[in-house]
Amino acid sequence: MDIDRKAFLESLGGAEGVARMDSEARADALESRMMSELNSAIAAKNSGETKPAKTYPTVAEVEAQIESRPYRAGVGFMMVPRSGENVKKLPPMPANPTLADFFKLRFADTANHVLQSANLAMKNGMSEEVILACLLHDVVQEIMRTDHGWWGAQLFEPYVPEKVSFAIRYHQALRYYADPSVGYEYPELYRELFGADYVPPPYIQATYEMVRKHKWYMEPRMVAVNDLYAFDPNVVVTIEPFTDIIGRHFKQPKEGLGNDGSSVAHMWRTIIRPDQPL
Ligand SMILES: [Fe+2]
Ligand SMILES: [Fe+2]
Repeated sequence: MDIDRKAFLESLGGAEGVARMDSEARADALESRMMSELNSAIAAKNSGETKPAKTYPTVAEVEAQIESRPYRAGVGFMMVPRSGENVKKLPPMPANPTLADFFKLRFADTANHVLQSANLAMKNGMSEEVILACLLHDVVQEIMRTDHGWWGAQLFEPYVPEKVSFAIRYHQALRYYADPSVGYEYPELYRELFGADYVPPPYIQATYEMVRKHKWYMEPRMVAVNDLYAFDPNVVVTIEPFTDIIGRHFKQPKEGLGNDGSSVAHMWRTIIRPDQPL
């Protein structure tokens, strides 16, 4: 179907706003928009009215999209590509894979976004813990998107300082709540993804209240601040500028991630071999 391209771009902050978004966020936003416009068109046709297209879908419209997809929105990007194309055979990984190996060989859909976020945090003079949290904050979305703050914190907890896993876990909840003191506003993208009238569920609300009063509140808040905004689409960031920070704060197991017998080794093995049927 045709969508109003100009209105769509404007709803995402114009061409610049779109350039700042990672590819999956763009794909999701486009998909949401198309479904929203389709629903509005059907509703207008049924009621005999010609209503102008809404800027954002409602929660009900977002929910109506569920049965339009052959997959659930929570499934990770490496598991189900949003392009609709077949998956590709993945390159083999070294016997003792490091975090950098995962960035180079497995985090194809999330690396660019988190590297840009870490780069921004570094430019903004954030602590090494916040920079590392930014570098790791969304990569778990390769395998699971639902509650990705909690999944992500769990994936990294055995290897990073507690402050870093705290920041990863709670950035998810804080992203729904503005904090004008640090210039953080509710993301426009969320109106598109969740619906204009979306209210976060009670556990997100309770988590926010808890973190708001916590002495480490600013750790996850700074991940949120350095997350979506102010990306420079012309900057190509590599993992190399972060090698020293990783070396100082990430306990790389000598057997390699996935072979270390930690409580989360299976999660790393799942990323190494996502084509294993069982
Ligand atoms: Fe996130
Ligand atoms: Fe993010």
